Amino acid sequence: MSLLPLFLIRWLAPLLWPLRALTTRAWLREAEVDAVLARLHPAWRLNRVFARVVGREWVSDDLLALRLRCNGNARGWRAGQHVQLHLQLDGVRHSRSYSLTRVGAGGLIELGIRRQPGGRLSNRVLDHLPVGAVLELGQARGELQWPEQGAGVGLLAAGSGITALLGLLREALARGYTAPVTLLHYVREAGQRAYQAELQQLMLRHPNLQVRWLLTGQDARHDPQGGRFQAGHLLGMSDFGLLACGPAGFVEAVRNNWGGSLQVEAFSPPQRISEPGQAVRLDFARSRVAALGDSNRSLLEQAEEHGLRPAHGCRQGICASCTCTLLAGTVRDLRSGEPFAEPGQPIRLCVSAPLGDVQLDI
Ligand code: FES
Repeated sequence: MSLLPLFLIRWLAPLLWPLRALTTRAWLREAEVDAVLARLHPAWRLNRVFARVVGREWVSDDLLALRLRCNGNARGWRAGQHVQLHLQLDGVRHSRSYSLTRVGAGGLIELGIRRQPGGRLSNRVLDHLPVGAVLELGQARGELQWPEQGAGVGLLAAGSGITALLGLLREALARGYTAPVTLLHYVREAGQRAYQAELQQLMLRHPNLQVRWLLTGQDARHDPQGGRFQAGHLLGMSDFGLLACGPAGFVEAVRNNWGGSLQVEAFSPPQRISEPGQAVRLDFARSRVAALGDSNRSLLEQAEEHGLRPAHGCRQGICASCTCTLLAGTVRDLRSGEPFAEPGQPIRLCVSAPLGDVQLDI
């Protein structure tokens, strides 16, 4: 039971700046201030984002729109970014990254959460997290932007990739984007056509929007236009800005068939390189750890193997929590194969493997 309503703690959030300044100078401990604030409301903290569940809506057989109202610490969030959702399960803290499908006024946000076979956190949220529950979120990250250049916009989503694109689409249409928009959503079965009713309504209200669902599983036999992504699906979009979001293989297929402006987000773990790994020297400069590693595996995996605990979230190159600075050497992006060798460049440890000896600022 909270002593203060959530709207009041949102309103009071700016008044906490003097306390923040004191914790920054180490004159107060943030954990102690948080403990006092949490007694007044379970979602009140100095800097951390807590939110209360205010709504749940199934938007397909396996995808839930979870609506939350955040405390006053979710600043500058944009639809299309991701946030980490943290839950304590059986005494162990679990985290998972989800797309922001809506960022509204008054701290209201919406996340798209898909059921994952064996996914402990997702399935707990889907089956047991009630309206009224309070949970912790990370800060929002992600760079996807609505493409303003081009004669129109093509949105290609596979599976739950729709959640990263839907928020951008909703916002663009709401602010009056009138150039053509084509959304192709690839799903295995008809029941996975998430947000179908809303997208059909949007098509009626915005004649510039076309949405097609393409079935890639068994149901594809009955859909002559269905099937997995192929270059022909991009016909008519040659001068569009393109956004593609889905598993790494899907994103790679789009990338290989597209020569124009493209933003992508791949959410499955990067594939290992199959050739034998070359031995490399890893220098984790800030931790003063030097070790032998290999050129096959991600730097996150190898840092953990050597006893380091770098911050991380999704382990799939999405949330950016594992970003660190490359001080020297060359790394390869495990999703695209692209090399990065610029000293001072930020890299994501979970999707970067060393191409030779490297030095990192962790
Ligand atoms: S852990 Fe999320 S980007 Fe690396």
